[in-house]
Amino acid sequence: MDKLIINGQRKLYGDVYISGAKNAALPILIASLLSKEALKLKNVPNLFDINTTEKLLFSMGVEILKTDSLLTLKARNIKDFHAPYDLVKTMRASILVLGPLLSRFGHARVARPGGCAIGSRPVDIHIKGFEAMGAKIKNESGDIVASTEHLPNNRLIGAEISMSQVTVTGTENLMMAACLANGVTILKNCAKEPEVIDLGNCLVKMGAIIKGLGTAIITIEGVDELNGAEHSIIFDRIEAGTYMVAAAMTAGEINCIGVESDKMTSVISKLKEAGVDVIKTDNIVSIKSNGKLKSVNLETAPYPGFPTDMQAQFMALNTVAEGVSKIKETIFENRFMHVQELIRMGADIVINQNLAVSRGGKVLEGASVMATDLRASASLVLAALSAKGTTVIDRIYHLDRGYENLEKKFNQIGAHIERVS
Ligand code: EPZ
Repeated sequence: MDKLIINGQRKLYGDVYISGAKNAALPILIASLLSKEALKLKNVPNLFDINTTEKLLFSMGVEILKTDSLLTLKARNIKDFHAPYDLVKTMRASILVLGPLLSRFGHARVARPGGCAIGSRPVDIHIKGFEAMGAKIKNESGDIVASTEHLPNNRLIGAEISMSQVTVTGTENLMMAACLANGVTILKNCAKEPEVIDLGNCLVKMGAIIKGLGTAIITIEGVDELNGAEHSIIFDRIEAGTYMVAAAMTAGEINCIGVESDKMTSVISKLKEAGVDVIKTDNIVSIKSNGKLKSVNLETAPYPGFPTDMQAQFMALNTVAEGVSKIKETIFENRFMHVQELIRMGADIVINQNLAVSRGGKVLEGASVMATDLRASASLVLAALSAKGTTVIDRIYHLDRGYENLEKKFNQIGAHIERVS
């Protein structure tokens, strides 16, 4: 298992090129199942989860052609409609194949994703939505088996669906299912994340008829078939936010290149509140910090609220920033796994259910720590970059799921990170 060895207290200076968003690329790669023509994608990040998705799609019969700048997927002859557990257990987002397979082929078998480090991660809202569209869904030895064979011309039927909770992949799964359904589907209480909008924009390029992207109500008018398209994946606002916090915690000055700042308002306003200078030009956000940070209170919420995927990173910032602060995690029930590891580095944090109170102003000490989930491991990298001495982070495969060339990008702006197997 790979480890990262990080020597801390080095100021970060320079340019960081932000990659395509993992959470946009995953549903968009899977959207290729909706058409027999080629979907050509640019700015797809090179991540473990992307490779897992490619493997899954390839196992179903999707033809995949990869050059260094273009990923082409063609679902001309799909022969397997099954997402097996050994793939789903490593990547929960595999549940997203359900919508396209049901919509275009009328049947699918997807291993029910288990929970993960951050919570139980149920998919009941996905299932209820497919059933509202007429699908028959049953459980068979741990798999979700879905079909529309009993429906007229084997097609889902458009429906009005109110989702009981804002769910990102739930919105995405049902939006993809509705594209080829008979009639109009109205999705209510939709997620408004930029990654959901990016998927919707790609589907529209493929010929889908979708209105209301970015609002709580999305209307999809089913069509007979979708065509090929070309699409460039939106930037990764969570990767960008992670580098911005790193600059703040190391009294550095960095330019994040390829960033649409209007999609990061809640994170940028929290950075300003912490005492960081933020300058926005057209596609660059520059961060300058004198290292004197004030800790910030925050509560995670669906977009445009503060993103839960940035909670662990700001927890690390609060441990070194001056003052007592409160972080409330409202999306997932167990997303404080990074706290125990930060405490090993000298942080003073007390958890009470979904509220973490931290007493800041600390100088963290390098230590041996363990990554537990993707964003928790990012927060340990941030803590290590600002800590005195050397930190060894174990189980960093979690990081490789969501951060492209992490140590290379950090070392290019002055960090000292070494990967050892
Ligand atoms: C997506 O997960 C992201 N993953 C997560 O990013 C992100 O943290 C999350 O949205 C919230 O923004 C991808 O896009 C691949 P949800 P998702 O469904 O869709 C409950 C990362 O670090 N819920 O929006 O699985 C659920 O338990 C990952 O990149 C149900 O109860 O999250 C949670 O409390 C981690 N029933 C809440 O809704 C359902 O059927 C929001 O979850 C679905 C969800």
